Amino acid sequence: MSSSNDPIRRQRRWRATFWSVIAIIVLSMALPSLGYVLAQTSGAYGEQRAFTEDRATNPRSDMWRDAREGGGGFTTQTGPYVTNTMISNVGENWRQIRMGPLITYGGWLLIGCVIAIALFFALTGRKRIEGGRSGMTVVRWRGYERFLHWFTAISFIILAITGLSLLFGRHVLIPIFGHQGFAAYAQVAMNVHNFLGPAFSVGVLAMIVLWMKHNIPNRTDVEWFKQGGGIVGKKHPSAGKMNGGEKVWFWLGVFALGLITIVTGFVLDFPNFGQTRETMAIAQTVHAIAALLWIGFFFGHAYIGTLGTQGALEGMTRGRVDTNWAKQHHDLWYEELIANGEQPVSEEELKRRKEGQGAGTAGQPSH
Ligand code: HEM
Repeated sequence: MSSSNDPIRRQRRWRATFWSVIAIIVLSMALPSLGYVLAQTSGAYGEQRAFTEDRATNPRSDMWRDAREGGGGFTTQTGPYVTNTMISNVGENWRQIRMGPLITYGGWLLIGCVIAIALFFALTGRKRIEGGRSGMTVVRWRGYERFLHWFTAISFIILAITGLSLLFGRHVLIPIFGHQGFAAYAQVAMNVHNFLGPAFSVGVLAMIVLWMKHNIPNRTDVEWFKQGGGIVGKKHPSAGKMNGGEKVWFWLGVFALGLITIVTGFVLDFPNFGQTRETMAIAQTVHAIAALLWIGFFFGHAYIGTLGTQGALEGMTRGRVDTNWAKQHHDLWYEELIANGEQPVSEEELKRRKEGQGAGTAGQPSH
């Protein structure tokens, strides 16, 4: 007999999830690489090299460097940033922030998050379902909610990989692809990033609207935090549908960092609404800082939802969770669910329903 307790089925599910994540990461790196292949096979490579060599010996380099750094002069053009300034300083300042503190602290932030999570896992291990699985399940997330979650999560991962490639490419990808290779890769990565951003924003906004009601802070959350979320040790602080930690992820991650990233992303993606260079420079810096913080936060969310907590991921993949998991992590929600008439369904029954559906039996519930 096979159920979700069946180690072979569980192993298969884990393997499928693992390879799906790897496939998303590899594809979102491989897709932009097409640009590299095209550049190698077209004449663009030689032309670019000739241009770079020509610049290296440009006798007017000093004059241009002076102009770029905002050296005094005279221009016939007047207006913000351009009167007597041949080349605006805004861009140079922005470049220095981007190439200096932004990528230095940003890089360390992400590495720090990965190390902290690895240490935490090494010290505390996986949070297991105490007393094992009951073999009875209840609905946790409906089909449309799971679709929304995974659409947004996959878009997020692709945006993170393409965005980080653009930010850190000079240091990480140029040594691998070379200058021309990276230029071609970055061109495609930027287009993927710019086109996917608005679709992802719709996903985030829908999450905020649909799940805000589960995330209203209350007294139970204060107690949950006082007990450290039950993350270390054997305590089980009470929680409703979402616990205090998930509410922090919702409000600080998805809501605050999400909205900042989305608004600044739109300013950058649609620059034809009268934005000045300064607006664009500020928007890019804020966008990158918010996105880096969000990615660091996301590492924690993805860890807790997979390796960190036994039985959590299946709520977001097949929609149902074991009743022992529900009682352990979200006892108040579980009690309310049962009080509202939800009937737990056994794994065997679910399997029978699935087989019945496969054989064309009508009238079975779809969870
Ligand atoms: C590989 C990536 C991800 C994994 C494995 C993952 C896993 C999960 C799991 C298992 C849950 C259900 C938790 C529960 O039932 O209590 C969940 C909920 C949630 N996830 Fe994710 N997730 C991922 C990425 C994302 C991303 C990128 C976002 C946002 C952009 C996101 C936003 C949410 C939200 C808002 C919830 C509901 C929690 C709440 O409302 O407080 N997830 N996730």
